[in-house]
Amino acid sequence: MENTLKTLSGVNNPKTGKSLTEENRWVNAEAKESGEIVITYKRDGISPQEKREIEDQIIEKLSDKYDSDKILVKTVSNTTETQGEAQAEAPKPTAAHASLKVGHGVNGNKKRIPGVGKVIAVSSCKGGVGKSTVAVNLALTLKRLGKKVGLLDADIYGPSLPMLLNKKGAKPEATPEKKIKPLEAYGMKFISFGLFINDNDPVIWRGPMLGGVLNQFFFDTDWGDLDYLVIDLPPGTGDTQLSLVQNTEVDGVVVVSTPQSVAVADTIKGLRMFQQVNTPIIGMVENMAYFSPEGKEEKYYIFGKDGVKNVAKDLEVDFLGSIPLEMVMREGGDSGRPYMVDDSYKDNEAFASYMDIAGKVAKMYESKGFLGKLFK
Ligand SMILES: Nc1ncnc2c1ncn2[C@@H]1O[C@H](COP(=O)(O)OP(=O)(O)O)[C@@H](O)[C@H]1O
Ligand SMILES: [Mg+2]
Repeated sequence: MENTLKTLSGVNNPKTGKSLTEENRWVNAEAKESGEIVITYKRDGISPQEKREIEDQIIEKLSDKYDSDKILVKTVSNTTETQGEAQAEAPKPTAAHASLKVGHGVNGNKKRIPGVGKVIAVSSCKGGVGKSTVAVNLALTLKRLGKKVGLLDADIYGPSLPMLLNKKGAKPEATPEKKIKPLEAYGMKFISFGLFINDNDPVIWRGPMLGGVLNQFFFDTDWGDLDYLVIDLPPGTGDTQLSLVQNTEVDGVVVVSTPQSVAVADTIKGLRMFQQVNTPIIGMVENMAYFSPEGKEEKYYIFGKDGVKNVAKDLEVDFLGSIPLEMVMREGGDSGRPYMVDDSYKDNEAFASYMDIAGKVAKMYESKGFLGKLFK
């Protein structure tokens, strides 16, 4: 620890030009049995861009002793990591159904999903902000960028992928190995709790069972080879989120909000939960950012302006972009033919935003700096 920190003594905070040692930012340097080294420092006041520069410096300084993919850089913050409380939703009465097994709930053995490259969760604090819409269109945009993409609907209380992907009523088959065979829609594999229940069934599911269902979606589903698995989460920080991070390696979280519903306290709580369990936040997306009448330049900031951008800045997470309100986005959702499926809307602003956001996400995983390392 001491030696490693000595090696790192020349690492500078790009903002102040002073070393992290001088600024008393080092928290820990821990060599793991697996051969990895985990470096932790205090990130207060440091921007995401500067964080990346610091990570690069750390990796460079340690490159004599460690392979770059063995170096994991973590940060802690006085403002966002003290006494955070991850809360669980109260268990609800059960209405069991379908060929899903229930009851082998959260076990806490974190595993990667075989064959799946990066697991990206799309999260929000509130419902109705466009999380599912963003999950589906982000997945489709990653596919446009040449990636193999799957979608997992983890919103067990209000699954929406069957509708968004025009597969309502379809039933997944079992493979000869008795795994769940995901459905295919628009060139992507997907699975949803909605495929196992009837439309009018009450979706009341006990927290402990929920983990079991999710585990089957992760590990008993034949995902094949994927570059990305995008997970559509229910809103908030409840059982699903906990079960997700306890059982699976999540490589990053995209947080969606409208400028209005950025109830800052809620957003901080949601982010904090993921940070507490060391799940990297990829960044925030501002959905329903504004509305422009067709053929007009002016923008109407119906839900307020820059709400998400400002919170991202306060929380020191990346701002990934703004998606405007477009009628065809809603229509695409309702009709089961998502916005980003083809080039129909390629001259629209939301289309450009999706391309930009997905490009940023893919680049993060492919870059060799901070995020590339963190999300190895
Ligand atoms: N940018 C947008 N422009 C127009 N409608 C949108 C946009 N984003 C989401 N919607 C619509 O808003 C509603 C809620 O979106 P949804 O993705 O279901 O939210 P959530 O998953 O957060 O509950 C849906 O009808 C969807 O089509
Ligand atoms: Mg949803």
